[in-house]
Amino acid sequence: MRRRQFLGLVAGAASGLCPQWAIAQAGPRILRAGPSRQSLVGAANPKSDVWAYGGAVPGPELRFRQGERLRIEVENALPVDTTVHFHGIRLPNAMDGVPHLTQPPIAKNGGRFVYEFDLPDAGTYWYHPHLGSPEQVGRGLYGALVIEEREPPAVDRDLVWVLSDWRLDREARVTTDFMSFMDASHAGRIGNTVTVNGSIRESFAVRAGERIRLRLINASNARIYGLKFEGHEPSVIALDGHPVMPHKVERIVLGPAMRADLILDCAGAPGSRHRVIDDFYQRRAYRLLNIDYAKEEPLRKTFDPVRPLPANPVAAPDLARAERHRVVFGGGMMGAMPSQREHRGMFWTVNGTVLPEGHDHPAPMLTLERGKSYVMELVNDTSWHHPIHLHGHVFRVLTRNGKPVEGGEWGDTVLVDPDSRAEIAFVADNPGDWMFHCHVLEHQASGMMAVVRVA
Ligand code: C2O
Ligand code: CU
Repeated sequence: MRRRQFLGLVAGAASGLCPQWAIAQAGPRILRAGPSRQSLVGAANPKSDVWAYGGAVPGPELRFRQGERLRIEVENALPVDTTVHFHGIRLPNAMDGVPHLTQPPIAKNGGRFVYEFDLPDAGTYWYHPHLGSPEQVGRGLYGALVIEEREPPAVDRDLVWVLSDWRLDREARVTTDFMSFMDASHAGRIGNTVTVNGSIRESFAVRAGERIRLRLINASNARIYGLKFEGHEPSVIALDGHPVMPHKVERIVLGPAMRADLILDCAGAPGSRHRVIDDFYQRRAYRLLNIDYAKEEPLRKTFDPVRPLPANPVAAPDLARAERHRVVFGGGMMGAMPSQREHRGMFWTVNGTVLPEGHDHPAPMLTLERGKSYVMELVNDTSWHHPIHLHGHVFRVLTRNGKPVEGGEWGDTVLVDPDSRAEIAFVADNPGDWMFHCHVLEHQASGMMAVVRVA
């Protein structure tokens, strides 16, 4: 049931989107980062030069079982240094993929590095570079990391949609205006072309009565998605990899780096068509793709209730005793920006200071005591959205945009709206120096980044 190729009919839409590596393969796997070419916008247009893992965007879908050990040798065939960060995984600090802070960069034109660590949590994660990220991610370096539950829920298909956007010119070339002043000081590099698993898609083929587990990953530099599945009522079962009480949502909002696992019950009529709309930026709403039902008889008429996933072994923070910290994110256009003359490419601040990329072991903004609980109030003192990400830990989101968050949801990235705040709580149980930054990659690279030490 788990991952069987369900129907010849839908195989084109289902498989073929992502190459998949078999589970529990012996020895280290090679993950090669290098230049490649790919058709992003259809056969009528030229292929685009991209940077890719394993020759394709997104990179290979890495699948493991909870509790297994990941061992991957990265080979850098790019013309620039790189590292790989396995986003959301509670791993040892030395495996975190942050250049200079946790490892030397993997040298361009042939450098190698072996990442090896256990996978304590089930869920949907992803991997991407942590060096020169605006360009490296913007050119296509990212892939899904799926960690299956020991007893995965019964579904007909378990699929990943890696959502990303591109800034292409008329010849379908990725424009090279990475880290432009305009992008870095505003909303980040938002592209003009949105792809699902590496190409624009007209149609997603389903069969009536199917139950699909859909793992959404926002791999964009800066774009936020607000997805509506017209005619459907998907249930959210996990956010950032971690289970939540299954609940139906009308619109799924995903900031950069965020993930959602949905159960999509295909209750539509055979032969029907429904749109998936992204209307996060309201005046720029568009159709992401159509859900197209085959004409066949429904596979089933009624659906079992959606059951919660088993919790991951994350320690619950002790809210009564937690130490509180306030972290203010500032800067950007229309905010308290350092003057033009002083900014030197740095527009964004965390508690009033900037941390440039490529830093050599910067001083931590905060030193936390190992094993202690913390509540952090994240204050967005700007006119822009910031998806704030903490490495090495997962946190409980207590409040967002001033309102309590029901259901005790966990996350590794929280989207904080303009002029708003969020509170997160976690146990500082993973020793090391951890990045704490905005995942709008142009914001991160122009100052909105800090180090939190767990000692
Ligand atoms: Cu997804 Cu610091 O990264
Ligand atoms: Cu930001």
